[in-house]
Amino acid sequence: MSKHPADSAAPAADWWRGAVIYQVYPRSFADSNGDGMGDLAGVRARLPHLQDLGVDAVWLSPFYASPQADAGYDVADYRAIDPVFGTLQDAEAVIRDAHALGLRIIVDLVPNHSSDQHDWFRRALAEGPGSPLRGRYHFRPGKGEHGELPPNDWESVFGGPAWTRVPDGEWYLHLFAPEQPDFNWDHPAVHDEFRSILRFWLDLGVDGFRVDVAHGLVKAAGLPDIGRRDQVKLLGNDTMPFFDQDGVHEIYRGWRQILTEYAGERILVAEAWTPTVERTALYVRPDELHQAFNFQYLGTYWDAAELRAVIDSSLAAMRPVGAPATWVLSNHDVTRHATRFANPPGLGTQLRTPGDRALGLRRARAATLLMLALPGSAYLYQGEELGLPDVTDLPDEVRQDPSFHRAHGQDGFRDGCRVPIPWTKDGPSYGFGTGGSWLPQPEGWGELSVQAQTGVPGSTLELYREALRVRRAQPGLGAGDALQWLDAPEGVLAFRREGFVCTANTTGAAVRIPVPGRALLASGDMEEADGDHVVLPADTTVWWAV
Ligand code: GLC
Repeated sequence: MSKHPADSAAPAADWWRGAVIYQVYPRSFADSNGDGMGDLAGVRARLPHLQDLGVDAVWLSPFYASPQADAGYDVADYRAIDPVFGTLQDAEAVIRDAHALGLRIIVDLVPNHSSDQHDWFRRALAEGPGSPLRGRYHFRPGKGEHGELPPNDWESVFGGPAWTRVPDGEWYLHLFAPEQPDFNWDHPAVHDEFRSILRFWLDLGVDGFRVDVAHGLVKAAGLPDIGRRDQVKLLGNDTMPFFDQDGVHEIYRGWRQILTEYAGERILVAEAWTPTVERTALYVRPDELHQAFNFQYLGTYWDAAELRAVIDSSLAAMRPVGAPATWVLSNHDVTRHATRFANPPGLGTQLRTPGDRALGLRRARAATLLMLALPGSAYLYQGEELGLPDVTDLPDEVRQDPSFHRAHGQDGFRDGCRVPIPWTKDGPSYGFGTGGSWLPQPEGWGELSVQAQTGVPGSTLELYREALRVRRAQPGLGAGDALQWLDAPEGVLAFRREGFVCTANTTGAAVRIPVPGRALLASGDMEEADGDHVVLPADTTVWWAV
């Protein structure tokens, strides 16, 4: 086994700037005990797959003690593992084995809210109005003659009011589900607690944190009304009194300080939904977080002009702050890109229609090669290396996304990308585990499995492996903050990096282009060059050595 990169001769400095980071959604990755729910021992057993794949780091969605009202994003104890996922020893074993395989581990940190089963919240409830513990959350009396109306007009991201009334008459704020009360970040105890949680996991050896709802911690003073309904439509576009408030940055400066006390370049990654890439850049100033997800990129359709615009604006926004751009196509909150691109544009990221699956897969493969050729860090979501589509026809009664059960929320169809992934052609739950699977897997899932695709030339899995191999061998592919656009026919993106050209045809028709160099890798079938021209098939990306 190779050594942990931080221990090896290779300099660890800036490892994260061009890193390819693979998101594991533990409940759907691998189940070691046959209870139908993935777990840490399952993750540990499958780490060699991730090493083979060639990623640099693994981000694990929450595995902490939790009633699972929002699939673990409702944390009851930040220092304990939920029994469904295993034990603290299992977590330590994952970290240790990952390091031995040369993989870094990033864990999820959920600081905007806890579970309503968190000790603080339970005690705050029990102690009643006036309890000092209520000050760690946002408890308020209601409006109206008898306090029967919520304290303000804020709506939950998951739909419905952002306030719930407790039996003694007070209300508490929850920007997400009622089981996820928001912390009050004006309270020093909250600051102390999270600094201590950071140290707890840093001491255990994690290489970083993905900060959940990093844009939400600080609320505008006085919790002012917004004055209109359907606020979910404003999210990500407008300035909201509960999102992207300037006060959050002070918190991150404090956290960065803590990380610098630890060896090995540990990192903080923001899940920050902001109106613009420029606002996102503020989270990754040199003394704050290291990276932020690029949701503007994720929200862009398979369209050359739009992609070029978002690539340029992302690079331009990050350049002044010196942070790497990041790129992402899929995660546990959105319809997988193989299904988004199988459908027409303009439908958003919560889809229920399978669309044209073959088209979606072709575009998804092309989109991935494009993404992996861009300067900066790239995020992959488990199963995309298998070309998995979303499962769009899950029966309503099996759905667990809390937003599905609340009207008019932002999300709701997130179960479709959370179906446990197939490892083997057949067998119970296709190798996910020895028992069932907490969400039903569709028929034919085994044909998409790791086993079915391994060693098969042209399979999506082999495409990802080869792409990551080339990316490692091509020094600088993920490095830097610039690329040079080349002239290309309409609907085609072509750019140069050092010793390298990427061409992506986003149109539905083949295009003839001058041969840019020696073909390294193509997302679809390519014909031999004829003379000095080559045909770029529809919806295909090709990498060239030049
Ligand atoms: C983040 C998570 C999402 C979760 C929400 C509330 O957006 O990615 O899964 O539901 O935060 O914690």
